[in-house]
Amino acid sequence: MRIEFGEWQIRSFQPDDAPPLAKYGNNRAVWRNIWDQHPHPYGIGDAEEWIRNAMQQSPETIFAIASATEAIGCIGMLPQSDVARLSAEVGYWLGEPFWGRGIATAALKALTEYAFIEFDLVRLYATVMEWNPASAKVLEKAGYQYEGLMRKSAIKDGQVIDQWLYAILRERPAITETAGSRPRRSSASAPAAAPRHPC
Ligand SMILES: CC(C)(COP(=O)(O)OP(=O)(O)OC[C@H]1O[C@@H](n2cnc3c(N)ncnc32)[C@H](O)[C@@H]1OP(=O)(O)O)[C@@H](O)C(=O)NCCC(=O)NCCS
Repeated sequence: MRIEFGEWQIRSFQPDDAPPLAKYGNNRAVWRNIWDQHPHPYGIGDAEEWIRNAMQQSPETIFAIASATEAIGCIGMLPQSDVARLSAEVGYWLGEPFWGRGIATAALKALTEYAFIEFDLVRLYATVMEWNPASAKVLEKAGYQYEGLMRKSAIKDGQVIDQWLYAILRERPAITETAGSRPRRSSASAPAAAPRHPC
C-alpha cells in the first residue's frame, strides 16, 4: 500500500524502516502521548519488532508515514471485534522534527479514506490524552467530531487522566448494510499477532 500526498506518503512498512523509526520514536514527547506499548527509551529492537508485526498483518492496517527517503512516523487502525466490528480505532505519531507542517492531518485524511474504501467499517475513532490539543486539532481538521470526555480513562506518565473521544462515520452505508456492493475486506480477520494499538 502506498498513498502519496505532496512530498509525503503513507505506505507499507519495510525492514529498513527500523533505524529511522527508532531515531524518531525514541522521544519522550512522542511517548507521552501514545500507549505504553511504545516504550521509552525506544530502541532499534523495538522498532524491528513493531515493523515485523506490521508486515505480518493480513489485512495490513499499520503503515509508515514517510518522506521519499525514510520513515518519519506511524499511522494505523485497529479493527474492533464482536458487536463493535464495524469500528476501528486510529492512532498515529510523527517524528518531532516534522511537526507543524500539516503532515499528520494529511496522513490521517489518507488513512481515513483508505479505510472506508477498503474495509467494511462504518466508524473510525480516536482517543486523545487531555494534554494533547495538537492531536485533537489534527482529528478536527481531518473531519472527526468530538463525541465526549472519557473521564479517568487512562493512566499515563504516572497520572490518571481524562481522554477526549473523536469519531468519523462513513458517509455511505457499509457493505453489511447494503446488497450488491463491491465486497470489502473484513476487518474481523486481523490476526492475533497484530499490535494491540494502531500506533
Ligand atoms: C499530534 C501530532 C501527530 C501532530 O502532528 P503534526 O503533523 O504536527 O500535525 P498538523 O501539523 O497536521 O496539525 C497540528 C495542529 O495542531 C495545532 N497545535 C499544535 N500544538 C498545539 C497546542 N499546544 N494547542 C493547540 N493547537 C496546537 C497546530 O497549530 C496545527 O493546527 P493548524 O494547522 O490549524 O495550525 C504530533 O505532534 C505527534 O506525533 N505527537 C506525539 C504523538 C501523538 O500525540 N500522537 C497522537 C495520539 S492521539
